Amino acid sequence: MDHITPNDMSAVVEADRSHVWHHLMPHKALETTDPRIIVEGKGMRVWDQHGKEHLDAVSGGVWTVNVGYGRTEIADAVRDQLIKMNYFAQTLGSIPGSRFAERLISKMPGMTRVFYTNSGSEANEQAFKMVRQISHTRHGGKKWKILYRDRDYHGTTIGAMSAGGQDERNVQYGPFAPGFIRVPHCLEYRNREQGWGDLHGEAYGRRAADAIEEVILAEGPDSVGAICLEPITAGGGVILPPPGYWERVQEIVEKYDLLVHIDEVVCGVGRTGTWFGYQHYPIKPDIVTMAKGVASGYAAISCVVTTEDVFETFKSNPDDPLNWFRAVSTFGGCAAGPVAALENMAIIEREGLIDNTVRMGERLLTNLHSLAERHAVIGQVRGKGLFAGAELVTDRDDRTPAPEAQVKAVVADCMAQGVVIGASNRSVPGFNNTLLFSPALIATEDDIDTITEAVDGALTRVFG
Ligand SMILES: Cc1ncc(COP(=O)(O)O)c(C=O)c1O
Repeated sequence: MDHITPNDMSAVVEADRSHVWHHLMPHKALETTDPRIIVEGKGMRVWDQHGKEHLDAVSGGVWTVNVGYGRTEIADAVRDQLIKMNYFAQTLGSIPGSRFAERLISKMPGMTRVFYTNSGSEANEQAFKMVRQISHTRHGGKKWKILYRDRDYHGTTIGAMSAGGQDERNVQYGPFAPGFIRVPHCLEYRNREQGWGDLHGEAYGRRAADAIEEVILAEGPDSVGAICLEPITAGGGVILPPPGYWERVQEIVEKYDLLVHIDEVVCGVGRTGTWFGYQHYPIKPDIVTMAKGVASGYAAISCVVTTEDVFETFKSNPDDPLNWFRAVSTFGGCAAGPVAALENMAIIEREGLIDNTVRMGERLLTNLHSLAERHAVIGQVRGKGLFAGAELVTDRDDRTPAPEAQVKAVVADCMAQGVVIGASNRSVPGFNNTLLFSPALIATEDDIDTITEAVDGALTRVFG
C-alpha cells in the first residue's frame, strides 16, 4: 500500500516508552528495545512505525476486530451519530440502542433483553450481580454461589477474577470475592491430570460434566445459583467441549435449578461460524455476555443479554421495593457503541462472513493438521470457525508442555516474518503452550495459507 510510508515516529516512541503502561507486559524489555506502535490498519493488515506490514492473525491481538480494519461505513455511521446525539445515560433510550437491541435479539432465539455495558469484564460483573439479586428475590437468600470452570477467563476486575480459572492471571491480586466455586475443565487432551481414568469422546465429555454435579453436591445444591462458562474456552487453550458435555450440563442445570450464564466475549458475533458459540450446542442460556467482536473494536460496547424470565424477576414486586436491577454503566450510554455494532452486524450479513468463517476455518484447521504431520511438537490442533489453537509439546507420548519461552519464540519468529499470531500466556501455570489463531472473519485462502506457512517456518527454526 503506497500511502503507508515509514513515519518519523521517534517522538511518539519516546512518549510511549516514558508514559504508557502497556497491558500484560513486563516493561523491562522496553529499556533496550522500542515499543511497537501500530499506525494504520486495512482489512487483515496493520503497519507499524517503520512502515512494516503485518498480517494480523489475532484480530487486534485479542480476537476483537472481526470485520477487519479501515471500515469507513462504521466510521461514517459513528461520526454521523456522534454529531447528532453522542451520549445520554441508558436511564433513557437512544435510537441506535433500541435498534441494535432488536437486531441482536433477532439472532438469539429465546433471549429478549439487552443491558448495555462497556467491557467484557463489566458485562460479566453485571451478570453476577443479577444472579446474586435473584438469590434474594427468588430463593430467600439461598443459591448465591456461582460456578466457574478451570481455565476459563471472565475478565480483569476483582469480581470477574473471582470467577477466574487461570491461576497465573490471579496470583498476587487476591483476596477475591466469596461465593465463586471452581469446576474442572473439559480438555480431554489433558485428561491424565484429572484422575478420571483414560476416558475419551463422549465418555470423557459426560465425565467432565458429571464433575460439575459433584461440585454442586459438595457445596449443597441449595447454595448454588448459577454456572458461568465460555462456550469454547479461549485464552485457556482453545478448549472445544467434548461430545456429550453440553447435553449433560443442560441436564444438570435443570436438575439443580441453576441459571446458565454463557460468556461469549470471544466466541460471540461470528467468530466460531455461528452468531454465538453456544448455538452449536444443546444448551439454553439464561444470561449471555458479549464484548470484543460486537463492534469489532470500532467503539467500546458490551452487552448482557437475558431471557424475559430473568428480566421479569426485576420488573416489579410491591412487597419488595428494591427488587429492580439497581445498576448503571455510564459509558453504556455512549451511542457510538450500538451504532458501530449495527454496522458491524450489517457487514457480516452483507458480505456473508459467517459462511466465510466456516470455510476459512476449515482451511485453517486442515493446514494446521498438515503442519502437525510434519512437526512433532504440535501435540493437538483444536478449533471451530476462525478460532483455533495448536498445543505444543516436547513429547507427544507424555504430552509434556513445550516451555513457554519456546512458544514465545515461535510467536516472535512469526512477527519477524510479518505475521501476528498469539499464544496462551500467563494464564495456566505450566500450560502456556498453545499457539492461538483468530484472524478476522474476512480472511481469504491466501491469508490463511500465509499464516500457516509462517508458523511452519517458525516451528522449524525454533524446534528444528
Ligand atoms: C472469555 C472472556 N471473557 C471476558 C473477557 C474480559 O473482557 P474485557 O477485557 O473486555 O474486560 C475476556 C477478555 O479477554 C475474555 O476472553
